Amino acid sequence: MNFLDKLIIPLSPKHIMLLHYMLMLIFSLFIPFISILLSGTFFSVYFKNRGVKENDSNKLRLSKDLMEVVTINKSMGIVLGVLTLLTSILIYMQLLSPGQSQAISYLIASFLLFIIGLVLIYTYFYSLKFSQVFEAIKSFKSDDKVIENEISELQSGSRHLSTTSGKFGFFFLFVSVWFFIAGSTLPIYPDSFSAGSILSVLFSWLVVSRFIQIIFISGAFTGATLLFAFFYWDGGRKFNSEEYKSMVRSFSIRLTFTSIIILPIFLLINLVTLPSDSLSAAVFFYSSAALVLIFLAYHYLYVMIRNQNIKYSLHIFVTVIVVIVAIVIKDQLALTNANEMQTVVMGAKYEEVMQKLTGANKAPKISGEDIYKNICSSCHSFDHKVVGPPYKQTLPKYKGNVDKLVAFILHPTQNNPGYPPMPNPGLNPAQAKAVATYILSEVKKYE
Ligand code: HEC
Repeated sequence: MNFLDKLIIPLSPKHIMLLHYMLMLIFSLFIPFISILLSGTFFSVYFKNRGVKENDSNKLRLSKDLMEVVTINKSMGIVLGVLTLLTSILIYMQLLSPGQSQAISYLIASFLLFIIGLVLIYTYFYSLKFSQVFEAIKSFKSDDKVIENEISELQSGSRHLSTTSGKFGFFFLFVSVWFFIAGSTLPIYPDSFSAGSILSVLFSWLVVSRFIQIIFISGAFTGATLLFAFFYWDGGRKFNSEEYKSMVRSFSIRLTFTSIIILPIFLLINLVTLPSDSLSAAVFFYSSAALVLIFLAYHYLYVMIRNQNIKYSLHIFVTVIVVIVAIVIKDQLALTNANEMQTVVMGAKYEEVMQKLTGANKAPKISGEDIYKNICSSCHSFDHKVVGPPYKQTLPKYKGNVDKLVAFILHPTQNNPGYPPMPNPGLNPAQAKAVATYILSEVKKYE
């Protein structure tokens, strides 16, 4: 790890902010995509089982149509699912400190599970199409017994393949999303998961409540997309039976309705459980915006049903997308706040590296005061709490003992309950001594 750490080039605060914006953008694509894939596959498999059991051709058709809507096409799967997830892992690798590498392992596990799930889900989709072909030639009778046997064998083979690949595809996707949520939750709560086993992380309340939230997001977005894709897009689909049409309609409405009515509860739970370090006015703003938009979606759904006017499905669809984007932004802002300290440290290191690159030998010798102003003051003040405790309170115990303070600055340890550990500012002994002497003399003014 040490070797790897040396390879990492510290990032400037601007660059770090840019990475956070990129994460917002990427998740605004990725989360809708996995949402719709997750619920879509689930309900497709569900309707397929019911359809086979009850010999109900409408359920079988819905099972296939659902997959047609949610898989969009193969290249979409690669761009929206695979590339976005991969890029987000690369970004997290730059943003998080070495102590947070646990989160990266969850994201990588999620990525691998996701690939397996995606392959199975596409297999499922194509075998569903095959089953349709067999449906079409069901009436086909041949005098040749061999051909007939072969066809029926192929048919049961393809049916078996689609059942298995559908179920396993859903399973892998489900677990992948769970790991993804764990990986993206850990960095927001740096203090809550010091050294947990995989199970204790996956089943922790923080991860589970966010996972449930994504499940309801998934239901809401899938329902809204179905309404939009079946009834609005391109003037609405041509249904060959009224019965099927009303089945699709009532299923999509019920799915959207139940999901968006429960979503606010989990949104509030997640807001309340955020650590105080992660909160800011902007986090509250985007949470409230998401809430208001959810009620707006609710309103559109009501108007759509009351007026029998399907054009509102467009409004619902767009509103739900904006809800997802607001939630994504809120989470990224919370992450930015939680990682503030890391950002300051990296920024300071960045300055140092830049100075070396641009000719450190020309730079004048740095005084204790300069070090304090450039590095320490982003987290410390003499008389009030910033990120770290006020010097007025912590320095008295070092009075007359500069070396002990130098030792602390070179290798910070956790001494003050209620504060996160201080990251190593990366000074050399001479610099540490200079700043230690400076703050010890300066603190006298506050006695
Ligand atoms: C990124 C934020 C950050 C930076 C930068 C930072 N500190 Fe700290 N510092 C902390 C935090 C957080 C604590 C509380 C850690 C603890 O004691 O548990 C702390 C604690 C301390 C303490 C109290 C130690 C004790 O024994 O109680 C001293 C002294 C201190 N820092 C000095 C410095 C000096 C000098 C610098 C600049 C070279 C510096 N810090 C830079 C965050 C920071």
